[in-house]
Amino acid sequence: MSVQGRAGPPEPLQWWDIEQLTELEQVLFPTDSPWSAAMFWAELAAGNHYVVTRSVEGNVLGYAGLSGGNDEQAEVQTIGVRPNAQGNGVGRALLRNLIAAAGDRAIFLDVRTDNAAAMALYSSERFTTIGLRRHYYQPSGADAFTMVRAADERAGTAHAMEEMT
Ligand SMILES: CC(C)(COP(=O)(O)OP(=O)(O)OC[C@H]1O[C@@H](n2cnc3c(N)ncnc32)[C@H](O)[C@@H]1OP(=O)(O)O)[C@@H](O)C(=O)NCCC(=O)NCCS
Repeated sequence: MSVQGRAGPPEPLQWWDIEQLTELEQVLFPTDSPWSAAMFWAELAAGNHYVVTRSVEGNVLGYAGLSGGNDEQAEVQTIGVRPNAQGNGVGRALLRNLIAAAGDRAIFLDVRTDNAAAMALYSSERFTTIGLRRHYYQPSGADAFTMVRAADERAGTAHAMEEMT
């Protein structure tokens, strides 16, 4: 399937997408405890911000989710793009959607230390590495970097102005 130029914008995850997401998890994270359907259902039930990007045929090309966190911080829980759709800007569009959803909060995430593509994406969106978690991923035992994107001052200003009006 060629997907160049055929990805729609990120839109809310629907329950009927979950089966495709669990299949993608098996492909994208085979050695790092891929998420089950129950885990995605729990995220939906919690009202957390989850989005998907679909092809024109309606197939899920990518997905991403943000935990609710608190007033000051949120966490990227997951982000993945179907292998034959990678390299077309889907991952960046999904990440930018999460950044917008986080508003004026700082955003944390964990990434495998050998995941150069994901780290390049995060760095280009102003995430910086603040820590190392040894053997964070299981059962692979792979290490993770913790990265953070500082609270967006401009989003904070916009938010404050919205509250004043
Ligand atoms: C990481 C991932 C989500 C990126 O999604 P994508 O749609 O392929 O990425 P994009 O096309 O939007 O590219 C955005 C940036 O990512 C980086 N990137 C993407 N693929 C890359 C590669 N193969 N090598 C190096 N950098 C890469 C680049 O900085 C790129 O920006 P550029 O196009 O201006 O150079 C995707 O590769 C993926 O699903 N990987 C497997 C699952 C995964 O590792 N998820 C992250 C867990 S923390």
